[in-house]
Amino acid sequence: METVDVDLAGRSYPVWIGPGLLADSERWRPMIRGRHVLVVSNTTVAPLYLDALAQGLDGLRWASYLLDDGEMHKTFANIGRILEALGEMGATRDACIIALGGGVVGDMAGFAAACWMRGIDFIQVPTTLLAMVDSSVGGKTGVNLPTGKNLAGAFHQPRAVVADTYLLDTLPQREFRAGLAEVVKGAAIGDPAFFAWLEDHADTLATRETRPLIEAIARKCRYKAGVVARDETEQGERALLNLGHTFGHALETAGNYSEILHGEGVAIGMVLAARLSERLGMATADDTQRLITLLQRLGLPTERSSRHAPTRLLALMRLDKKNTAGTLRLILWRGIGRAEIVSGVAEDDVLAVLA
Ligand SMILES: NC(=O)c1ccc[n+]([C@@H]2O[C@H](COP(=O)([O-])OP(=O)(O)OC[C@H]3O[C@@H](n4cnc5c(N)ncnc54)[C@H](O)[C@@H]3O)[C@@H](O)[C@H]2O)c1
Repeated sequence: METVDVDLAGRSYPVWIGPGLLADSERWRPMIRGRHVLVVSNTTVAPLYLDALAQGLDGLRWASYLLDDGEMHKTFANIGRILEALGEMGATRDACIIALGGGVVGDMAGFAAACWMRGIDFIQVPTTLLAMVDSSVGGKTGVNLPTGKNLAGAFHQPRAVVADTYLLDTLPQREFRAGLAEVVKGAAIGDPAFFAWLEDHADTLATRETRPLIEAIARKCRYKAGVVARDETEQGERALLNLGHTFGHALETAGNYSEILHGEGVAIGMVLAARLSERLGMATADDTQRLITLLQRLGLPTERSSRHAPTRLLALMRLDKKNTAGTLRLILWRGIGRAEIVSGVAEDDVLAVLA
C-alpha cells in the first residue's frame, strides 16, 4: 500500500492506495466523526461494491442515495435530491458523505457535502482509475449546467481518499485507459522523470499489472497533491493541471459527451496543445512524438474525429473558464514536464492546429 498526504494548513488528509482497502475498515472508519453517513453512489457501482462498504458502517445510522449512471446526471437537480436524502435521515453537522464511484459521483457527493449545513465531511472511495489519480484528490467538486461543464461548484476537500485497486477489476477497458491519460498528463506537465518511468512501464500498465499500477497512481497523486498544497484554489500553478483540457472539453462538448470519454478528450487535447506549442516555437516535434507514442502504447486516441469543424471547436474553446475577457488562455508546454500558462494565443494558430 502507498500513502500520499495532501498537506493543507489544518485540513491535511491521506490518500491510501492499494488492494483490499475497502475491506480494511479499521483504517478508514475512524475518519467518520459523527453518527450519520450517507453513501452516494450510482446504479452501476452500488450493486458491485455497496455491500462491501456497508460492512464497515456497522453501528452507524447510514443510508444510500443512488444516482443514475452518466455525465448527463451530473446536475443541480440531483444535488437537491442528495440534500433531501440527508434531510430525511436527520443528518446533523457532524454527518459524513461517502462517495462510492467514479468522478461523476465524487464531484456531486463532494458538492452536496460542501452545501449541507454549509459544509460537512466527506470521504472519497474512487472506483475508476480517473477518479483515483485525479478527481478524488484536490477538492474540486461541482455539477454541469446546460451552458457548460463543471460551471457550478465549490472547493471542498475530503477527509480521506480510499483508493482500493481491487475495485478496478470490474472497470471496462476503455474507462481504464481514459484514466491512464490523466496519469500521463501529470508527468507531461511537471515531472519528466515520471514520464520516462511511464515509457519504461507502458506495457505492464496497459495490462493492469498491480505493482506498476499502484506506483503510477501514487506518483500522479503525489504530483497533484504538491500542486494543490501550493495553490488550492487555482490562482496560478494549479491551472497547469488543465493541460489538454481546453481542447479536450471542446471535443467532449461538440460530441455531446457521448462520442469520447473525458480522459480520451484529455489525450487528444494534450497532443493538440503539444502541436500548438511546436507551432509557436516553444517545443520540438520530438516532444510531440514522444507524447503520441506513449499515449498510443497505452491504447489511447491521439487524433480528433474529423466530424467537428475547427471553427465550431474554437467557438467552444472561447467558453473555457481559464480565458479572460476576449483572449484565449491555454496551457502549453516547453517540452516534456515543462507546461506553462500562455495568454493571448492567436486564434489563427489554434485553427491551424485544429485543421
Ligand atoms: N474534481 C476534479 O478535480 C475532476 C478531475 C477530473 C475529472 N473530473 C470529473 O470526473 C468525471 C469523469 O469521471 P470518470 O471518468 O470516473 O467517469 P464516471 O464517474 O462516469 O465513471 C465511468 C463509468 O464507469 C462506471 N464505473 C465506475 N467504477 C466502476 C467499477 N469499479 N467497475 C465498473 N464500472 C465502474 C461508472 O458507473 C461509469 O459508467 C467528469 O465529470 C469530470 O468532469 C473531476
